[in-house]
Amino acid sequence: MAALVPAGSSVLASKSAGASHRKMATLGNLSISPPVKLPGFLNFQCGSIRSSASSGIKAQVSTVEQVSAELAQKLEAPVVVITGASRGIGKAVALALGKSGCKVLVNYARSSKEAEEVCREIEASGGQALTFGGDVSKEADVESMIKTAMDAWGTIDVMINNAGITRDGLLMRMKTSQWQEVIDLNLTGVFLCTQAAAKIMMKKKKGRIINIASVVGLVGNVGQANYSAAKAGVIGLTKTVAKEYASRNITVNAVAPGFIASDMTAKLGADFEKKILEAIPLARYGQPEEVAGLVEFLALSSAAGYITGQVLTIDGGMVM
Ligand SMILES: NC(=O)c1ccc[n+]([C@@H]2O[C@H](COP(=O)([O-])OP(=O)(O)OC[C@H]3O[C@@H](n4cnc5c(N)ncnc54)[C@H](OP(=O)(O)O)[C@@H]3O)[C@@H](O)[C@H]2O)c1
Repeated sequence: MAALVPAGSSVLASKSAGASHRKMATLGNLSISPPVKLPGFLNFQCGSIRSSASSGIKAQVSTVEQVSAELAQKLEAPVVVITGASRGIGKAVALALGKSGCKVLVNYARSSKEAEEVCREIEASGGQALTFGGDVSKEADVESMIKTAMDAWGTIDVMINNAGITRDGLLMRMKTSQWQEVIDLNLTGVFLCTQAAAKIMMKKKKGRIINIASVVGLVGNVGQANYSAAKAGVIGLTKTVAKEYASRNITVNAVAPGFIASDMTAKLGADFEKKILEAIPLARYGQPEEVAGLVEFLALSSAAGYITGQVLTIDGGMVM
């Protein structure tokens, strides 16, 4: 496995002032660009507004009202923090939520260029985004990350704990450092971010927390004692926090992917991949965008408001 060395405690935040340089509304010809796709989470519907200036004062007044409503709604767009959003599943989730009109904090450990590119894509589609470089296994970095989102947007509506690493090896040969690195990021990092985000969400009695676990946390996997222990820990943490915060209207769920095409699985090798595919009824790896669709549902849909403490597997039928 290629080593993924996080950026230590160096913290870098870069804000992309999306709205300031984007053309948001032109009242002269009564068009809004780009259109804003609004999630069910906010319980309103709005699309792009296009009208001809010659359609009369009444039409103009109502369109101006729509413009104001749309801008107000944009200001109220859900604020989402996603850890490990520069690549793979986290990137796909960031793009999906950004395109849905959310304000997205894109966290990364070392891939600053990739993270900036994610922000650019979100802004190009009409969302707002900022990057934050920091190691979410470190309490100080998590505090800075949450403060960055709060300073920029004043709240956090959705926390997505996605950052994760593997340091595989059989138990017999696993070094304590291999164990600790994975536990520190994949479990302690989730604890730190969840605790920090829940503090904000509990005050406003609203929030959604989504933890990216793994099917390995449910069934174990040879060579992944550290990783499966961390992911099983995330599942226990998810259920406990769901119980503790249900009275505050905060839902907490885990998504447990099987094998998803990403840098993490690209390292596995052809022989291993062949064996894996034989164990997957749908006989293919999942795509990050498929996981993102499930996360988007849990994060934004009003239909997901009654789901909490659950582990949703997305694995082509591998674990059933
Ligand atoms: N891919 C799968 O088949 C699969 C299956 C089940 C579960 N999962 C889980 O899904 C999540 C994402 O996996 P993936 O396959 O998308 O991984 P990936 O492609 O390797 O991306 C990992 C992401 O985590 C970030 N990261 C690494 N160390 C970090 C740290 N200390 N602090 C903050 N961010 C850090 C990376 O940032 P940099 O780019 O800056 O390094 C990157 O954005 C993980 O929790 C993983 O365990 C994946």
